[in-house]
Amino acid sequence: MTRITMTALGASACLLLAAAAPSAIGTGTQATQPVQMIDLTDPAHIENGKLRFAQNCSYCHGAEGIGGKHKKLQCRDFDPDYLFDVISNGLESGSYFMPPWDHFSDEKRWELVGYISSLGLLDSCS
Ligand code: HEC
Repeated sequence: MTRITMTALGASACLLLAAAAPSAIGTGTQATQPVQMIDLTDPAHIENGKLRFAQNCSYCHGAEGIGGKHKKLQCRDFDPDYLFDVISNGLESGSYFMPPWDHFSDEKRWELVGYISSLGLLDSCS
């Protein structure tokens, strides 16, 4: 990926973030505190997150987060707010780039958080 493409991606991501900001932050005073709106241990939400992960994330993070091109997400102990932040804003690591997923509703992003959290509690982790 060329630098020009990266810059264009960055710029459009900013525009998207700006457009999404009012609904995402509610009062506008707590931009860094995403509201956790679902029960992250609810099996129905975890199942939705699992499906969404398979469709959008496994390409880079492997089936069920086992790792692949990028980080393994199984058997990790993540802070839910950190997960929501990374999913919403994306992440750059060296020359690698994870796109933001802020086109998913807050609820859909929290379902992904619930699913990834569940990957830290698999039998195979202990
Ligand atoms: C184009 C590849 C790509 C896709 C698709 C992708 N990611 Fe990532 N993800 C990355 C990269 C690159 C990183 C930075 C860390 C690394 O180098 O592995 C990362 C990091 C993360 C992290 C932080 C891991 C840590 O150790 O702090 C989480 C959580 C994550 N991704 C979740 C997701 C979710 C959920 C999706 C789908 C909605 C997704 N990713 C889709 C490439 C991707």
